[in-house]
Amino acid sequence: MDNQEDIINQKMSELFQLKEVRDNKKLKELAREAGLIKSKMDEYLDRFITQDIEMIELKNKIRILAPLNINILIIGESGTGKELLANALHGARKWPFVAVNCSGIPDTLLESEFFGCKKGAFTGATEDRTGYLEHAQNGTLFLDEIGDLPLLLQTKLLRVIQERKYRRIGDTFERECNCRFISATNIIDIQSRKDRFRLDLFYRLAQVKLHTTPLRNRVSDAQIILEQSKLPKEVIEDWMTKNSSNCEGNFRELLNFIEEWKALNTTQTTN
Ligand SMILES: Nc1ncnc2c1ncn2[C@@H]1O[C@H](COP(=O)(O)OP(=O)(O)OP(=O)(O)O)[C@@H](O)[C@H]1O
Ligand SMILES: [Mg+2]
Repeated sequence: MDNQEDIINQKMSELFQLKEVRDNKKLKELAREAGLIKSKMDEYLDRFITQDIEMIELKNKIRILAPLNINILIIGESGTGKELLANALHGARKWPFVAVNCSGIPDTLLESEFFGCKKGAFTGATEDRTGYLEHAQNGTLFLDEIGDLPLLLQTKLLRVIQERKYRRIGDTFERECNCRFISATNIIDIQSRKDRFRLDLFYRLAQVKLHTTPLRNRVSDAQIILEQSKLPKEVIEDWMTKNSSNCEGNFRELLNFIEEWKALNTTQTTN
């Protein structure tokens, strides 16, 4: 019986891979309910490989939090999957996911990048400009490296979150802000860094806090990824012995190692 069910599920799943079936809204919904096709959230969560009990719980929390409009702060070391999880939280919403790297924009531009501006508002504002808040309307604004946001902008963002309104620079009327904020930081103690981050903004952005565990505290996850990548046993053992307890770049460093190893060891010699 189980076997027959498996065959039916397999056939149905193949059917739903077909574009014309996938494009049919009603069928697509039925297939999703039956678990035959994955939501975008599941696709991202599947990429977050783990057997660590805390990280499994984290993935379960994300399933619950994804459809809610709660602001979430993801805290964890570099390369531990914060952006991957932010994408999972956004899930399959039809509105945009706008990612902003708060440490990558010069202070002078930051305000107009966030709020947009009217033509002529300042030297160089040669046309009306839409800001991140407007781009992310109804969707998700992902504020990466939030700990690097300058204090002046922290104050302005606080007002936006409180009042759900903002004004383009040089504009006379206010616009509604309807996005959900997901933020990320690798400053593990950001909550106590009062010199650097406003506590009142912290509490508004971190209605829920999620923590990602570094790879050195879940080394079996590294082992799984190395094995899935089909590296030779001795290469895996060597990497685990030398790197798993101090891999500062976490999963990014591990994936770089795998890519590099494959590139160097699958190169064809033509002569
Ligand atoms: N548990 C995991 N399993 C497999 N791949 C992972 C896992 N966590 C992260 N990755 C991969 O590692 C890389 C880095 O992840 P991501 O960019 O989400 O990390 P991050 O925490 O945002 O890093 P940073 O702080 O440097 O921006 C990505 O390619 C991601 O897909
Ligand atoms: Mg990141």
